[in-house]
Formats: sequence, C-alpha cells, structure tokens
Amino acid sequence: MKNQNTFLEVIMTRRSIRDFREGNVPEEDVERILKAGIMAPSSGNSQPWRFHVIRGRTKDQFVNILKNAKISPPSEAEETVKTIPPSWRRLLVKGMETVPLVVAVENVISINRDNISSAGSLLGTAASAENILLAAHSLGYGSVWLGYPPILQAVKAVIEISGDLICVLPIGLPANNQNEYFNRSRRPVTEVVKYYT
Ligand SMILES: Cc1cc2nc3c(=O)[nH]c(=O)nc-3n(C[C@H](O)[C@H](O)[C@H](O)COP(=O)(O)O)c2cc1C
Repeated sequence: MKNQNTFLEVIMTRRSIRDFREGNVPEEDVERILKAGIMAPSSGNSQPWRFHVIRGRTKDQFVNILKNAKISPPSEAEETVKTIPPSWRRLLVKGMETVPLVVAVENVISINRDNISSAGSLLGTAASAENILLAAHSLGYGSVWLGYPPILQAVKAVIEISGDLICVLPIGLPANNQNEYFNRSRRPVTEVVKYYT
C-alpha cells in the first residue's frame, strides 16, 4: 500500500480559514484555483456553476454593507460552535476587509426539489466550491465556505446574480494564529460508515 499521497494531505489538512493576513493572490493563482473549480463533476456535464471574483471597489462596497448588516453568529451552526465570540461580527468583517478577493459561487439552474436534475445541478456547483477550497489550500491560501444568509445578501447587493448564490469563498493568506471558534473535529469513521459483505 502506498503512503498517503500529496493530494490526500491537501484534503486532510484543509481547514476553514477565517483570519487572514495582508497579501495578494497573484492572477496566475486565481486562474489555477478557478480552473480547479470548473473541473468538478456535474450532472450530465451541465457545468451549472458561475464564479464571480469580487475585488477592489466592489469588495469595499460588500464590506461596507457587511459592516452595517445585522450579523449575529449563525444560529444553524450553533451546535458546532465551541464558544461564540462576541466579536464574531468584527472577525468576519475584518477577514473580508483583509482578503484580496472573494469568490461568489452561483448555481445557474434554479433549485427545484422535485426535479432531480435541478437538485443535481446544485450538487455539481457545491462540488466546484469544494474544488476551489482544496485548490486554494494546496497553493498555500486560506478560505472558508460562507453560506450565512446576511453574507450572501451583502454580495447580492453589490453584484448581479440571476441564479442561486450558493456560497461566498474569501481567498487570501492565512493569518499565523487562527481563532478556532468553530468545532473542526470529526465523528470517527466507525460512527459514520457501515460495511456490507
Ligand atoms: C454549507 C456550508 C455552509 C457554511 N457556512 C459557514 C458560514 O456561514 N460561516 C462560517 O464561518 N463557516 C461556514 N461554514 C464552514 C463550516 O463551519 C466548517 O466547514 C466546519 O465547521 C468544519 O470545519 P473545517 O472546515 O475547518 O474542517 C460552512 C460550511 C458549509 C459546508
């Protein structure tokens, strides 16, 4: 049996990064990361994803909206949050201010739960977002899947999105000390897997 290869290491070491330090992401790396996004599998190769790279003035507008938005720690994630910091909102806004870019991931085929191919398109778009997270990490950048509605709303206020906005992925250099407010532990494999013979 082979030793764990580099790709598995990337998967095993990826973590959600919410604190960033100053520093740019060169254009070449942005392209490599987005190309990883388009290599995701999708239902019937429908490629339902669209990526919006938000930088510069548009990102400043997004951050300004976030600053004024009513943001409390995501309630749906409460079970997985170790200690909810009172400064969660500040941390979020600071992170968005520091990163050079955020990628908004759109699903262009609208979600209809009764329609399997529409549901399939959502899954393909989610797979593309995961590819982006892994590619960013493999190149030494930090990112996090942000699905919290006020964040999505702030993005939708600054750019036009006709489909469904699935998530927002800030991409930048990870801060040296990460605040571990969210639980990163995993249930053991034995708890989530059943074997059949
Ligand atoms: C669908 C989805 C929505 C998420 N939304 C948020 C979010 O709004 N804010 C946040 O800080 N993290 C969010 N996360 C990241 C999770 O909190 C994180 O993946 C989880 O705690 C496990 O930690 P790890 O990614 O470091 O392994 C989201 C992840 C997923 C898959």
